[in-house]
Parts: sequence; C-alpha cells; structure tokens
Amino acid sequence: MAVVPYKDQSGDKKSQVAQMFNNIAGKYDFLNHFLSAGIDIIWRRKAISLLKAAQPKLMLDVATGTGDFAIEALSLQPDKIIGVDISEGMLAVGREKMAKKGLTHKIELQYGDSENLPFGDNTFDAITVAFGVRNFENLEKGLAEMYRVLKPGGTAVVLEFSNPRSFPMKQLYHFYSSNILPMIGKFVSKDNAAYTYLPESVQAFPDGQAFLNIYEKVGFKSTKWHSLTFGISSIYTGRK
Ligand SMILES: C[S@@+](CC[C@H](N)C(=O)[O-])C[C@H]1O[C@@H](n2cnc3c(N)ncnc32)[C@H](O)[C@@H]1O
Repeated sequence: MAVVPYKDQSGDKKSQVAQMFNNIAGKYDFLNHFLSAGIDIIWRRKAISLLKAAQPKLMLDVATGTGDFAIEALSLQPDKIIGVDISEGMLAVGREKMAKKGLTHKIELQYGDSENLPFGDNTFDAITVAFGVRNFENLEKGLAEMYRVLKPGGTAVVLEFSNPRSFPMKQLYHFYSSNILPMIGKFVSKDNAAYTYLPESVQAFPDGQAFLNIYEKVGFKSTKWHSLTFGISSIYTGRK
C-alpha cells in the first residue's frame, strides 16, 4: 500500500502529493531549512558538486518544487536548467523567487510529471532530483523516464532522505521525525498531514542498496550511494 498524505481521502498518491505541496508551498522553504537546521543546504551543495567534472550544459531538475536545487546547480555554470513539478503552488513560489533573483533566463520552471516527462529521448546532459523520488507514485516509472531523457554518458543525481541505521542516531532521528517535526510542521504550515507523511514516506522508501537495485533495473550504470549525516540523507548517482 502506497503511503499517502491524506489517508481519509480517496485520491491517488500523485494527486494527494500535488495537493499537499500546493497547501504548504508558501511555508515550504522556511520549514525546509528550519526543520533540518540548515543542513539541507550542505547536502544540496555536496550533491551538486558530484556533477562538477561532467560540466553539464543543459540540465533537468525533476520535482523542482520552489527551485532551490536548480539554484544550487547554477554553480556548475550550465547554459540552462529546466525544472519540472506537478505542484502549481510550488512552481508559483519558485517562479517568483527566480524573478526576484534575476534568474529567469537561466532557470525555467514548468509543469511536468516525472512519470511522463514532456521531453524527447537523450535530451539532458545531467538530471537532478532533491527530496522528490520518495513522493513519486511509481518510483520505477519515474526513474525510467529520467533515464530516457538523459543523454548517453550523462549523470543523474538523486538526493533523498534515508533511514539512519545505527544507535543512537537511529533512535534520536526516529523520535525527532515522528514527534517534533510533525508538531512544528503542522503548527507552521497549518496542514495536518504533510509533516506526518514526511517521516512515514521516508520509512517506507527503499533506501540504500534497495534504491540502487531499482536505479540499475531501469538502466543506470556505475551507480553509487553516498550516505550523509549518519544516514539521515543519501545521494545516489548513476550514468546512462
Ligand atoms: C519535498 S519537495 C522537493 C522540492 C525541491 N526539489 C527541493 O529540493 O526543495 C518534493 C516535490 O516533488 C514534487 N513531485 C512529487 N511527485 C512528482 C511527480 N510525479 N512529478 C514531478 N514532481 C513531483 C512535489 O510536487 C514537490 O514539489
């Protein structure tokens, strides 16, 4: 059974996830940095740095949300980054941010579903996704689509929460993500479900080697898994 945000509603995971991110879009950036004590910024930087050698020119940021991972990717000096997402609310916040920062010529945000990407085969030099794959309704289909639109020789970088496995971080993180994080998230975002869905979806996500197995199944080669901050997050890389 898929983990969904609104268990008392009947919609599929994709429509519920879009609805949830529409609801919290205005508070998303603040909560992201606050609840991770800013560590997400370090994780994003580390993930993007893995693309330095590739010097990608045309990049795709899947599940781009408000565009923070795309902004981080500008450090690679690409010609253009296209960000796609299924939440119009998140995209609206992102577009406003790009306009304020004068980045609309470099980063283009558009509606797009990871499981049916609106691009031709072999289009992008590199693909990034931060905290997105856990939300896909069909993980394998989303990863297969990323593989399809990536150019041969290109690299895809996935940043996602994972489950710490060793004592005491496993216990501490479990307590924080199941008790404190939902309480603050609910108070700030006013969405009852979003920050309960977060730890539940992390727990249900096939992280580590299980993720690499799916990554390889859809075609990615030379796959690697980097564990970050005691395993709270992970970076997965793969080449086409
Ligand atoms: C936790 S946010 C991450 C946003 C951004 N990448 C970041 O690092 O802050 C997850 C995003 O995934 C998007 N998403 C979920 N399923 C998607 C899909 N099938 N296709 C595109 N975007 C999707 C959501 O709408 C949401 O904006």
